[in-house]
Amino acid sequence: MRFKFWIIGVCIACFSCVYNKKEAVTPSSNNNVNDGNPTIPVSFKNDISPIIQNNCISCHGIYGDLGSYTNVNKYTTSTSGKASELEGRIKGMEGWNKMPQGGSLSQLEINKITQWINEGAKDN
Ligand code: HEC
Repeated sequence: MRFKFWIIGVCIACFSCVYNKKEAVTPSSNNNVNDGNPTIPVSFKNDISPIIQNNCISCHGIYGDLGSYTNVNKYTTSTSGKASELEGRIKGMEGWNKMPQGGSLSQLEINKITQWINEGAKDN
């Protein structure tokens, strides 16, 4: 009789371990940074500024022409239905020299900048 209880005890202990392992897996989420989810608004401070810092400032920072929101924003307005200069440059569209010069942004970075422009290029 005692032996039976012991077996049952061991079984409960084992199952609770397996159960605990499943419980321990929690999805990671970061609410501050848009990681390619189009339902989350893109932030200039958290999403766009780091892309510019890492890919553009090495050349443009010297003159400060992409060094602030105001300066980046100058390139986000489009004229006569054409894409804005910022979008045209990072996508290498016809009529623009592709930026960053000699390289390119990742598809995710291009998507983020495009989404940010479409959302009104806000200083957010
Ligand atoms: C290796 C150097 C280099 C890097 C890195 C670079 N650029 Fe440029 N960029 C240039 C040069 C040189 C010009 C001027 C020649 C031209 O118009 O293509 C220029 C011009 C521009 C212009 C037009 C400026 C004006 O006054 O009309 C924009 C906008 C621009 N770049 C955006 C970017 C963006 C956005 C990035 C980062 C994703 C970037 N660039 C990265 C070298 C660079």
